[in-house]
Amino acid sequence: MRNLKEAYGDWALITGASSGIGEVFSRKLAAAGMNVVLVARRKERLDKIAKELIDEHNIHARVVCADLSDENETKGVVSAVDDLEIGLLVNNAGILNTGNFLDSNLEDEIRLIDTNCKSYIILTHGLGNKMKERNKGALIFLASLTAVSAISRWANYAASKGFDLQFAEAIDAELKDFNIDVMALCPGLTHTELVKISKFNNPMTMDAEVVVDIALKKLGKTNLVVPGVVNKINFFSTRLNARFMNTKIFSAVVKSTQELELKK
Ligand SMILES: NC(=O)c1ccc[n+]([C@@H]2O[C@H](COP(=O)([O-])OP(=O)(O)OC[C@H]3O[C@@H](n4cnc5c(N)ncnc54)[C@H](OP(=O)(O)O)[C@@H]3O)[C@@H](O)[C@H]2O)c1
Repeated sequence: MRNLKEAYGDWALITGASSGIGEVFSRKLAAAGMNVVLVARRKERLDKIAKELIDEHNIHARVVCADLSDENETKGVVSAVDDLEIGLLVNNAGILNTGNFLDSNLEDEIRLIDTNCKSYIILTHGLGNKMKERNKGALIFLASLTAVSAISRWANYAASKGFDLQFAEAIDAELKDFNIDVMALCPGLTHTELVKISKFNNPMTMDAEVVVDIALKKLGKTNLVVPGVVNKINFFSTRLNARFMNTKIFSAVVKSTQELELKK
C-alpha cells in the first residue's frame, strides 16, 4: 500500500463510520497515520471509535453526527470540516430495503436514495472542489456487486448502487487531470450489520477487513475494484448475458436465499 498521507494529505472523511465497512476504513486509515473525520448518526459509537483511534495511533479524530438522508445535515458536514484539508473522502454510508417495492414504505425508499446517492454527490461536490484546487485527493464510492444488475426485491438498492458505480466512473474521467484518484468499490456480500438486515447470507460472504485491505491497496491504481474471485466472475460475467437474464439470475438468488433464511 502506498503512503496515503503523502499521496492525499493529512485528513480522511468516512461516512457510515459507526459500523461495518466504514468502521474498518476508519481504523485502517488511522493506522496508516491519517487523521479521520467520522460521520454517522450513532454518536456514542463514533465517540468510542474516535477515542480508540486517538489512543492507539496518536492521530486526530473528529466526530460529526449527521443524518445523511437529510440534505441540510449533509451540507452541514461539509461546513463542519471547512477548517480541515480533507484529502480522502470515503462515501460509504448506506442502507438496504428489502421486499417488493410497492409493498414498502415510500418514505423509507426516499431515505435510501438520499443516503446512498444524494449524500455522495453533496459531499463529493463540497469536498472534491477543494481537492481540485489543491491538485490532489482521492474519492472512494461504495457501490456493490449489485450495481451491475436490476434485482427484484432489492430494486431501489441495486439501482442506487448502479448510480454510485456510474457516477464514480464518470467523475474519474473528469478528474484525471487534477491528480484525484477515484474508485468505485464493488464488494459482494460482506459480514456487516447491513447483511444481517438483508436476511441474506451465504458461505462466500467476505470479511470487511479483507474488502478494505484490497481497496486501499488498489487506490490510485485502478478505478474499479471488485474484491474476491467469485465476485469478480459474477460481476464481469454480466457483460456476456442479456440484461433480462442478469435480472433473472440475481433476483432468483436473492429470493431463494432470503426464503431459506426466513425458514430458519
Ligand atoms: N455488507 C455488504 O454485503 C455490502 C456489499 C456491497 C456494498 N455494501 C455497501 O457498503 C456500505 C456500508 O455498508 P455496511 O455493509 O458496512 O453496512 P452497516 O454496517 O450497516 O453500515 C452502514 C453505515 O451507514 C451509516 N448510515 C446509515 N444510514 C445513515 C444515515 N441516514 N445517515 C448517516 N449515516 C448512515 C450507519 O451509521 P448510523 O446507523 O450510526 O447512522 C453505518 O455506519 C453501504 O453503502 C453498502 O451499500 C455493503
